[in-house]
Amino acid sequence: MPTTEYYNDRVVRQFLLAAAVWGIIGMSVGVYIAAELYWPVLNFDIPFITFSRLRPDHTFGVIFAFGGSALIGTCYYVVQRTSHVRLAYDRLAAFTFWGWQLVCILAMVTVPAGLTQSKEYAESEWWIDILLAIVWISYGVVFFATLARRRIKHIYVACWYYGAFIVAVALMHIVNNLAIPVSWTKSYPIYSGVVDAMVQWWYGHNAVAFFLTTGFLAMMYYFVPRQAQQPLWSYRFSIVNFWALISVYMWAGAHHLMYTALPDWVQSVGMAFSIVLLMPSWGSAANGLMTFNGVWHKLKTDPAVKFMVMSLVFYAAATTEGTMMAIKTVNSLSHYTDWTIAHVHSGSLGWVAMITIGSLYAMAPKVLGKPAMHSHKAMELHFWLHMTGTLLYVVSMWTAGVTEGEMWRATLPDGALKYGFLDSLIAIKPLYVIRWFGGVMILSGMWVMAWNLWHTAGDARARLIKPIPVPVAEPAPHQIPAPLPAAG
Ligand code: HEM
Ligand code: HEM
Repeated sequence: MPTTEYYNDRVVRQFLLAAAVWGIIGMSVGVYIAAELYWPVLNFDIPFITFSRLRPDHTFGVIFAFGGSALIGTCYYVVQRTSHVRLAYDRLAAFTFWGWQLVCILAMVTVPAGLTQSKEYAESEWWIDILLAIVWISYGVVFFATLARRRIKHIYVACWYYGAFIVAVALMHIVNNLAIPVSWTKSYPIYSGVVDAMVQWWYGHNAVAFFLTTGFLAMMYYFVPRQAQQPLWSYRFSIVNFWALISVYMWAGAHHLMYTALPDWVQSVGMAFSIVLLMPSWGSAANGLMTFNGVWHKLKTDPAVKFMVMSLVFYAAATTEGTMMAIKTVNSLSHYTDWTIAHVHSGSLGWVAMITIGSLYAMAPKVLGKPAMHSHKAMELHFWLHMTGTLLYVVSMWTAGVTEGEMWRATLPDGALKYGFLDSLIAIKPLYVIRWFGGVMILSGMWVMAWNLWHTAGDARARLIKPIPVPVAEPAPHQIPAPLPAAG
């Protein structure tokens, strides 16, 4: 019996498809808003498509719809393989798929329509938040119930990371969205003033920490050893990094509120925790990279490995940069400038998108019942489009950020500002067109991936919609994939 019949891979395939579709939608919006910043005429004076409304649409689309679908899909795939058991509760798992898609569609439509709580990364209104919480808790039930039914004693480290991601996201989503609804379209947060700001950035930062980092580290810890076809460089080190990461990340959120009304000591605490955070961040990046020791030649032949290795390099780079930006004096230069945007996208396009794409290329043939992806050349093309586009994006935005920061702080001998705000905008304008072009390349790469996935699915496409029968018998031992070796 093929493993796809023993495991519930139908829901995995559905999330895989959703990730590809949302990736294209979310990044198309990103490319459009990048174009709006260069050609403001593209706002067309239509409220629905102005930059201010499409920007949160982009962030929701790429973080929750694209990232979330990839995370839940890979999580279901990984927990089954590492626990040697079928996913618990087929119907609840199906509900999490349809529920998540519904939440994404509702958020993506209501935010441009002007319904917003005005909290970054938590824009959608209260009733969508409640739906999201229900779907998320259901996802947690499916995951932890599967873990509880596992047929081997050990819980593989990737599941630790997925577990922490699920618990922390539930916690921060619920706490940050506590609000008093006054109508279907309006609610007021229960917090006010500086407390509201602190709760929001405790949430906002943990969206980065647990959604954009911990979940993707889980993906990395499973797919990197699988693709390298050798054990993790140090299993023990991965556990040390796990505890260090989750205990430190929660307290670093104040670095988003430097030089604000937040008490100075809280800002300093945020800075101190951000500096310590570099250690577990580099620990995981090093662990992933060292796992390729002895098989570096795969970089030449396997595009999925290329994506994974570069994602780890970007992870190390983005976290080093973040730590630097959390130092107050550096933040006084970088804050409000495009440097932050460069940091965000070296993290999201370099780390998040690359580990996702690498893992999807590793997982797709397996869940689609094929020996390999349809086109190796298309994977290569995707890698180079994504890599070049990301470099164009981040290098142009770093240059723009430092230019803005330096121009804004430059003064004349009498203390007056040397440049007006408009001067800085004119100076960075050419860089905006470079960023847009980088985005076009990245988006083209996503279309190449979609084409490749479509052809890989081939005759397996029918299985995407037809239910897979629940097994009547457990697979023989030789049919279960070997557990990931735990070295070190
Ligand atoms: C084709 C690829 C992409 C393009 C062209 C793009 C473009 C943009 C643009 C133009 C902005 C607004 C910048 C500003 O306000 O000045 C933005 C913001 C943002 N993007 Fe992207 N983006 C892309 C991919 C992604 C991906 C894959 C992610 C996450 C997984 C992401 C996460 C974000 C976030 C979190 C922000 C808000 C940053 C902040 O508030 O500081 N983007 N993006
Ligand atoms: C050691 C790890 C990291 C540290 C210490 C860190 C630190 C920082 C700092 C200081 C800022 C600027 C805050 C401001 O001036 O407004 C920032 C912004 C941001 N970082 Fe990081 N960062 C880290 C890793 C990452 C990673 C891996 C990602 C993405 C995957 C990421 C995504 C973001 C986003 C989305 C923002 C913009 C938030 C906003 O203003 O909307 N960070 N980070």
